[in-house]
Amino acid sequence: MNDDELDLASSIPNQTILIIFGASGDLTRRKLMPALYHLSREQLLPPQFKVLGMGRRIKLGDEFRSNMQNRTRQYCSHKMEDRYWLPLAESLISLRADYKQENTFGELKSVVEKIAQEWGSRANKLFYLATNPSHFDIIISGVARVGLNEAMDGYWTRVIVEKPFGLDHGTAESLDNTISNCFDESQIFRIDHFLGKEAVQNILVFRISNVMFQPLWNRDYIDHIQITSAETIGVEGRADFFEQTGAVRDMVQSHLLQLLAFLTMEHPHSLDPEVIRDQKVLLLKSIRKYKEDDIGDNAIRAQYLQGVVNSELVASYVDEPHIDKDSKVETYAAMRLFIDNYRWRGVPIYLRTGKRMPNRKTEILIQLKSPEDREIPTLLFKEPPVPNYIKLEIQPRAGVEVKIGWKPIGLLSEIEPINLHVAGKVDIKEPKAYERLLMDAMRGDSTLFVRFDEIREMWRIVDPIISYWNKQDAGELETTSGGRLNFYHAGSQGPNEAKSFTEKDNFSWTKI
Ligand code: BG6
Repeated sequence: MNDDELDLASSIPNQTILIIFGASGDLTRRKLMPALYHLSREQLLPPQFKVLGMGRRIKLGDEFRSNMQNRTRQYCSHKMEDRYWLPLAESLISLRADYKQENTFGELKSVVEKIAQEWGSRANKLFYLATNPSHFDIIISGVARVGLNEAMDGYWTRVIVEKPFGLDHGTAESLDNTISNCFDESQIFRIDHFLGKEAVQNILVFRISNVMFQPLWNRDYIDHIQITSAETIGVEGRADFFEQTGAVRDMVQSHLLQLLAFLTMEHPHSLDPEVIRDQKVLLLKSIRKYKEDDIGDNAIRAQYLQGVVNSELVASYVDEPHIDKDSKVETYAAMRLFIDNYRWRGVPIYLRTGKRMPNRKTEILIQLKSPEDREIPTLLFKEPPVPNYIKLEIQPRAGVEVKIGWKPIGLLSEIEPINLHVAGKVDIKEPKAYERLLMDAMRGDSTLFVRFDEIREMWRIVDPIISYWNKQDAGELETTSGGRLNFYHAGSQGPNEAKSFTEKDNFSWTKI
């Protein structure tokens, strides 16, 4: 281990119980278990550690452990080895729990106390709310009712709250009230796992540490910005969740607006978590809130139909198990936003996300103005030079691409566009987002977690769009007012209607 790794290892606490509410769900299978396995591999789990999985239909004993092993194997990026799996498997226990039952939290308390007794001490408690968000309130209140929210004798208690935090501004405020009544702010870790991605942390480094790019970061040089997060997967057994959320609540309100905030906020004067969050909040506050009449022109939604993804025929959204046949829930959303501050006034920002797209890709395109727009004399060239762009690739792998003009070999003074591309290599030791964030929560580092005022502002931006669509579906708006649900075939580039932005604003979406 080098010095940094030693520092990291020494900051991992001992005697810790991770209590996952919703341990039979998709998040535990897809993200949390693989993250825990990777931490076990890196020897970054507390020496005395238990994972207590809670859920209504959770398996018990060995069946729970082998279930978790199969799930971990399915989503883990490393080959599973017994020497790392077995210590983790030993820490796995489960408790069948109906959160509406009075005695559930009493039982939980007994299990926690028993583990602490076995360790001959008290224990740190990290609660993880990975259930459907509609259960968050009842779980938080239950935990507090039996006094498990308290930190004791130098042992901490923390709670990680999954996104979406509420379903709109009102429900988010009420959830925040419940949580703040039971936990101190220093105990609350609101997760947005995109912040744990290496390439997202790199956004600030890229734009601030490079003198070459730093002066361009404003409306004088930037024509527009596109932020895309496309996925090949569908709803993956999360019908209940997705029917309640849809793409805007699931992806835009959190991940995409966080990317935008990192990309466009003013420079923080330090890396203190509060300073960075202050800057993000200021930026989010300056994003224009749309009036009803503006929404039809600035946001579109769509749902996938049957199509081919990764050479496989996949069903329409409404034909997925447990989805309402008449569902109007969007699996794709695109919108144009404006930041009304001095730096960004007039620069359109396009956000786009979709499920069942042809590729998994998250990237940010920063399109620079053309030399003519900057009134740079270009007469000496036969054809106008190509405008430059900078593309920040977030996943599947981190990278940067810069497009420049270049004279090809020959006698003519032509200009040819070429791409300078730095593709991040896949580093086996690169921490995955959940791995990083679980570890940070155990170490008490909240830098990569979200403050409630950010969440409030993010709802302020998307709420009017969602309620406009709801009104549209309820037939409360003129049929000509835009905002209707559109459709796209799985595996395509999205709905044709998304091109309305490109045609109106004279740009093209990047290819997914
Ligand atoms: C989650 C969403 O927050 O992010 C999922 O709820 C989505 O619907 C996932 O699939 C995407 O995350 P990642 O890290 O796999 O790109």
